[in-house]
Amino acid sequence: MLKNKTIILGVCGGIAAYKAVELLRLLTRSGADVHVIMTRSAQQFIAPLTFQTLSSHPVHTALFNLIEEDEIGHISLADRADLFIIVPATANIIGKIAGGIADDMLTTTVMATKAPVLIAPAMNVNMYRNRLYQENEEKLRRFGYHFVAPVSGRLACGWEGEGKLAAPEAVFEAAVGAVTPQDLAGRVILVTAGPTREEIDPVRYISNHSSGKMGYALARAARRRGARVLLISGPTALPIPEGVEVINVISATEMLTAVMAHVDECDAVIKAAAVADYRPVTRCETKIKKQGDVISLEMTKNPDILALLGSRQRRPFLAGFAAETDNLAGNAEQKLKAKNLDMIIANDVSQEDAGFNVDTNRVLLFFKEGAGEQCELMSKAQLADVILDALGARLPTR
Ligand code: PMT
Repeated sequence: MLKNKTIILGVCGGIAAYKAVELLRLLTRSGADVHVIMTRSAQQFIAPLTFQTLSSHPVHTALFNLIEEDEIGHISLADRADLFIIVPATANIIGKIAGGIADDMLTTTVMATKAPVLIAPAMNVNMYRNRLYQENEEKLRRFGYHFVAPVSGRLACGWEGEGKLAAPEAVFEAAVGAVTPQDLAGRVILVTAGPTREEIDPVRYISNHSSGKMGYALARAARRRGARVLLISGPTALPIPEGVEVINVISATEMLTAVMAHVDECDAVIKAAAVADYRPVTRCETKIKKQGDVISLEMTKNPDILALLGSRQRRPFLAGFAAETDNLAGNAEQKLKAKNLDMIIANDVSQEDAGFNVDTNRVLLFFKEGAGEQCELMSKAQLADVILDALGARLPTR
């Protein structure tokens, strides 16, 4: 993701400066080499030592003490950057950059860099709505600068409204997006994830061990690659990936309704959800009482969502999963044909490090045209990109 990327983190003077510390932790944790520049006002809010300790590099605060190793500091730093992030960005710094002013270490380095620049503004709501500010932001957007919009809420100045710095996680996602090729931009991808629950009575249900990890990894990766992502999720304990639109469902029937409501908007559907094949014929309105030693439950077949999609005349690219405990390749290829899919991802769920409720997976990919690919054990995050590479290469051009 951000492994071995050189990132400059510019911190300006605002009460939200402390949130730049959390962002720095997220960036370094994901393997980035982060160099921090602080403006003079930023140092009124937080000490450089905090950033120095967490980035393992000295913090740059002044323009004129940076002639290092025969190099001009702000130029060499600007040249080395893969990404420049400014958090929090004040109206002042945005105005200066938009006006071409370079009078301190931060503005000079921004001016000198060829790396993508990501700006996360934070300010009073009236400053944010001021036409001067809005025009500066618009100008920078036109020039290719990326922005993470501030959110609404109670501001440090006491006002209520837009201007609150976006969450560090949202800025982190935008940072990943800014250095990720946007090969799925303009595409709409629907991902289903997690288990379904089929209720027996008000306190009991039938379900499976799906955690949603595989589907959420796909949704996150597709969003990072620029797609609009609709995530239809059964019950999971996972946080919603940034920028992904989520629709929560419980049962297979609810999942079917949600999928059918959105399928016509989509370029591709990826069905990572573990949908229950059967549900109880009737759901008891009251808790079933303990009776004899054995009870039986009558079950009826759930609709096969993927097969229904495959039978449509006009349909998006369809990628299914096959969760198997035996005859992995044979069963998967049979499902690919029977459900009229473009692609199937077969995982052997009897293995401890693959399939349900683990962070890794090991799969076979099969395609409609007859090709196949074996993917050795990798993280679900890595596998999501492998699946999206294969899917992206097969989406019809528009
Ligand atoms: O969520 P995790 O813990 O990360 O686990 C990931 C996973 C094991 C759930 C995932 O990798 C996976 O294999 N998902 C599909 C599980 C499954 O239901 O497989 P299946 O072979 O029973 O179904 C084949 C395909 O048909 C699947 O894409 C499924 O979503 C779809 N299906 C199945 C039944 C049904 N009624 N409707 C469907 O659409």
